[in-house]
Order: sequence, then C-alpha cells, then structure tokens
Amino acid sequence: MKNLLIVHGPNLNLLGEREPEVYGNESLKELNESIDNFAEKMNLRVKCFQSNHEGALIDFIHEQRNWAHGIVINPGALTHYSYALRDSIAAVNLPSIEVHLSDVNQREEFRKRSVIKDVCEKQITGLGKEGYLRAVEYLVGLGVLDKLQESNRSSANLDEALRAVVKLLEESFPKYTWVGIYLVEGDELVLHNYIGKPSPHTRIPIGQGICGAAVQEKQSIIIDDVNSDPRYLACSVETRSEIVVPILSGSKTFGEIDIDSDLEAIFHEGDQEILEKCASILAKLF
Ligand code: SME
Repeated sequence: MKNLLIVHGPNLNLLGEREPEVYGNESLKELNESIDNFAEKMNLRVKCFQSNHEGALIDFIHEQRNWAHGIVINPGALTHYSYALRDSIAAVNLPSIEVHLSDVNQREEFRKRSVIKDVCEKQITGLGKEGYLRAVEYLVGLGVLDKLQESNRSSANLDEALRAVVKLLEESFPKYTWVGIYLVEGDELVLHNYIGKPSPHTRIPIGQGICGAAVQEKQSIIIDDVNSDPRYLACSVETRSEIVVPILSGSKTFGEIDIDSDLEAIFHEGDQEILEKCASILAKLF
C-alpha cells in the first residue's frame, strides 16, 4: 500500500469558506498539505484531486487505477445518489475508504443514505481532517494484513509469522514505538519477540499490567494515558499510550500483540480493528 489517491468531490474546493461551522476553517489546500505531510511520514505517495464534476472524478479514478493501491474518497453529496461513481470504485477494484468531514448520519435525512459505502472497506464520518488521516492509516493496515496472509501462505511456521507481524507493524506505523508479542505459558505471558527498547517485563503474570488484564478479560484494551492507569507496568519512560490485543480463538487465548507509543491518546478503533484482524490470522497458526 504505497500509492494512494485522495479524491474530493463537489463543493470541497470551498472548504474554509463554505459553512465553516459544519466543515471547519481549513482550506482544501491546507487539508491536502496535512494529508501530504502525514503520508510522507508513513512513507506513502499520494495524489490529491478535487472536482465538482462527477465524470471528472470517475476519469481520475480510471486514469490512476494502475498507479494507485488504494483510495480515500470524500464524494460530497454524490455519496447519496451517484451510482456512476460507485461503479467506478467497484470497477477499479482498489481498497477504498469513504470519508466525510461532518457526521452525515446526524444531519438531514437525505445524507444518511450512501450508495458508495458498500463498495468501500469502511465509512469514516464526523472526524474532520482526522478522518482522512485515519483512512490513510486503515489502508496501510489492510496492506499489512495482505502481506501477513501472503507470508503465512509461503511459510506457516508460527515463530516466523510472529516475527513477521512485529516487523511489518513496526515498519508500517511510525507512531508504534514498541511492538511485541507475548505468548501464554501456564499462568504467565512470556515475551516472544519485539522491536523497540528492551523491556524489563519479559514475563507478566496473567491479571497483572495492561498485558495481563487484556488476556484475563479476553479483550483488547486501549490506554490513552499510561501514567493515569494504576495497572500499567512501565517499559520506557517515554511511553504515553498503549494498545493490547489478545490472540484468541474461541475460548482459548494463545498470546497477545502489545504496542506502545510515545504519543498520548494515539490509538483508535482503526488500530484495534486492524490488530484484531492480525491476531485472528495468527490464531489460526497455533
Ligand atoms: N506496559 C505493559 C508491559 C509490557 S511493556 O510495555 C513492553 C503492561 O502494562 O502490561
């Protein structure tokens, strides 16, 4: 997932001027600059395009279909009725995310219907600029899942797969400063492999720390500020937030993916969704 299209539909050229209480004060140029900067940090290439014309949007998607690996699209009001735009996304068969700056589901009735949604992996609404950045991250996450499936097909070796996923995640997401896998051994979690600073916590009793809690509760945990959670076992003084995702199948828990970031409140539901999909791919190898 290296080359992404950022496609903006009708009226988005007036961002910053048009109903700023709904769409914000930032211009389209500023929005695209933020997306460009974010993409650069993630080692991606993006092409941003805006048009008020349905056919021009479709032409752009067609023209770029062999360059692009994924699409982030804010179709504007075309969302609600453009079967032609929908068909163009389906035709090029690239993973696509539908984004809206405002929460279209909380506005007029006609905005609740999207004819685009079904040909996209996901719809992200109401997060302003952040929605585009999350869409970019989600597409990168889908790329990680593809690579993981691929590497598992060529070698179903568990040890290799556990190392591969840590490497893939660390390489793909610069905000992940420590990535590791713990495996359940009896009533403990044992660190299998990691990338980042060495952790003093190579064995964690189930039930202790954020790691032990996630396995005990059999669910993912996101901690926005590790310093305000009494359960937190510190790995590095720089760590600000953490996400832990159990690797489980039915009632059996095999281990977990543990990720730290030096940035506060950086993990969101997109990270959780992608990591849970990684964990379920891994669970099949146990
Ligand atoms: N922070 C974890 C311990 C593992 S280190 O971060 C690698 C916890 O609270 O369980």
